[in-house]
Amino acid sequence: MSDPNDLAAFLEEGWQYLRHGVADSRAPARYPTFATISPRGLPEARTVALRHAGQVAGVVEVHTDIATPKVAALGSNPHAALHVWVPRSNLQIRLTTHVTIQTGDAVQAAWDKVPAASRVSYGTVPDPGTPISEVYAYDKPVRRDRFAVLYCVITHIDLVHLGARHRRAEFLRSDAWKGQWLAP
Ligand SMILES: Cc1cc2nc3c(=O)[nH]c(=O)nc-3n(C[C@H](O)[C@H](O)[C@H](O)COP(=O)(O)O)c2cc1C
Repeated sequence: MSDPNDLAAFLEEGWQYLRHGVADSRAPARYPTFATISPRGLPEARTVALRHAGQVAGVVEVHTDIATPKVAALGSNPHAALHVWVPRSNLQIRLTTHVTIQTGDAVQAAWDKVPAASRVSYGTVPDPGTPISEVYAYDKPVRRDRFAVLYCVITHIDLVHLGARHRRAEFLRSDAWKGQWLAP
């Protein structure tokens, strides 16, 4: 059995699940909850798909439509939290991030990899969240110019593992991800 006191191994486990989420659409980390602060200062949370998890840079990426309210929220407050629960491993992963909204030429390579059937997710008319007269009174044209990558630079990771004895640790970018055990 591995050493339960090994902070680096605990962090590695968290990253493994994030990478699984990118690679496997059935993995729990594929669909994190992504939370922002609205321009009115209210919390907002929604499901997103995890598109990239880079441990060396400490970054995760999400794709979105720039017309969605979450992008307006990030325009007024660039911080977002991501939450994942991995039931099979009893592991909660929480990320605090600073988000850059990438569009235009910077996201061409990412756009090229978006399957044709998925491209309609970027360009809904009227804009997402607009009241409509009846249930299907909207259109979904492909709008390359509406595609954005949310480049989320992680500043803080909080891991909780539920076991016979629970384990909780936080890892800070500012501390080179050294890690600190916390009371769960
Ligand atoms: C399983 C699932 C995956 C989703 N993936 C994304 C995604 O990757 N990006 C995205 O912008 N919205 C995604 N959505 C839709 C969002 O949850 C949300 O409804 C939409 O983006 C509008 O959010 P907002 O009004 O908070 O900006 C997904 C929804 C579900 C149910």
